[in-house]
Amino acid sequence: MRSRGVFTLVLFGALTAYLLYSPIPSNIEERWKLMLTDSFFKSLSHLAELCENVGLLDYMRVMMFITFAERVIPVSDDRVKVTDENFDGIEVIVYQPYQQEPSGELRRAIIYLHGGGWCLGSSRMGPYDLLARHMVTELNAVIVSVEYRLAPAYHFPVQFEDVYRVMKYFLHSDVLKGYHINPERIAVSGDSAGGNLAAAVTQQLQKDPTQHVQLKAQALIYPVLQALDLNTPSYQQNKHMPILPRTLMVRFWSEYFTSDKSFLRAMMDNTHNNPESAALLKFVNWSSYLPDAYRQTYNYSAPPVLNEKAPVDSLSLPRLLADPRASPLLVPDATLRSLPKAYVLTCEYDVLRDDGLMYVTRLRNAGVDVTHAHYPGGFHGALMFITWPTDFEIGHRMMENYVTWLKQNL
Ligand SMILES: *[C@@H]1O[C@H](CO)[C@@H](O)[C@H](O)[C@H]1NC(C)=O
Ligand SMILES: *[C@@H]1O[C@H](CO)[C@@H](O)[C@H](O)[C@H]1NC(C)=O
Repeated sequence: MRSRGVFTLVLFGALTAYLLYSPIPSNIEERWKLMLTDSFFKSLSHLAELCENVGLLDYMRVMMFITFAERVIPVSDDRVKVTDENFDGIEVIVYQPYQQEPSGELRRAIIYLHGGGWCLGSSRMGPYDLLARHMVTELNAVIVSVEYRLAPAYHFPVQFEDVYRVMKYFLHSDVLKGYHINPERIAVSGDSAGGNLAAAVTQQLQKDPTQHVQLKAQALIYPVLQALDLNTPSYQQNKHMPILPRTLMVRFWSEYFTSDKSFLRAMMDNTHNNPESAALLKFVNWSSYLPDAYRQTYNYSAPPVLNEKAPVDSLSLPRLLADPRASPLLVPDATLRSLPKAYVLTCEYDVLRDDGLMYVTRLRNAGVDVTHAHYPGGFHGALMFITWPTDFEIGHRMMENYVTWLKQNL
């Protein structure tokens, strides 16, 4: 049923493709398919803008259609047991193997956080369901997929706090025992906004003196890591790239904090910084943290700082922008030093590429063991494209590479 729905969408996309043709770099594989897929996303985004402008529905309410179109009902099959659970008030889906290891060996666990810009997405989307099952069978692991609450109904820090509560609950030794989990083999992982939440909760756990069980690893897939500079070279280069154009990413950021449109406009112009956040710009200075190859043709200029009163909600926005629970790149090296080993996946054609590259540099400078998987022909969201008819070779390769890393490092 779901596949048929998606197929209809792709067909709808195909019809609008000729209207919305956009050049796609020649080293991206399966370009025609990506163009069709993207034309659907673009059409939906145009429709959403239209609906919002005429006052019919909010932009994100219309965009939620993507989430519904890919919705599945996660059920047990003959290899994987799937249950809906409630961890300290938060909905989660738990995927686990039926079979106990004959040796009685304890299992690994991965807390997985879906992407969607804190506004869209669900654990119950086909690709996340497939990924979780794949991890269970390949890693003999328990996967906890978190249904954190979304913007615009809930703004930051609700998403972060939902995930953190799930982590704290799950990492209790009696809960781990119930799932036969080895407390020394637990990771957190997520893609895009889920990668942001994964990085943020990893930092928070490390700082918590009451926390006994710690994570062994964090795996971040094209993560969002900072809200201060939305004009890094990757934001400039990939402004119009498929799946996640700059305008959509900026909307996600803005909506994570507030639905006030004047903040959105300031973020679009990269003029949203205030004196408090500007003091932290040194942590996202791409001129210092990007490898040479990525900055040569761009000239660094720090985002301007408005000294006059912030346009909206002047009491809370400065704090939010400077909050590392929203932008995990905004912490000093001393905080990074104690973090567990990391896997960071970046894509060349992604506005978020430089967020990931900077985190790789900063973690390595702090002495953290980092595996960096860069995809030169990669585009944002590729790991979501692993189910028919919108499945891409690169999505499958990413999944295999990522799972192999977990196999060897968790
Ligand atoms: C960014 O780094 C460059 C060179 O590494 C330096 O000249 C500039 O002052 C820095 N700017 C900020 C805001 O940290
Ligand atoms: C960066 O600065 C150099 C030297 O001033 C200039 O030649 C080049 O065009 C600038 N690049 C961009 C992308 O603005």
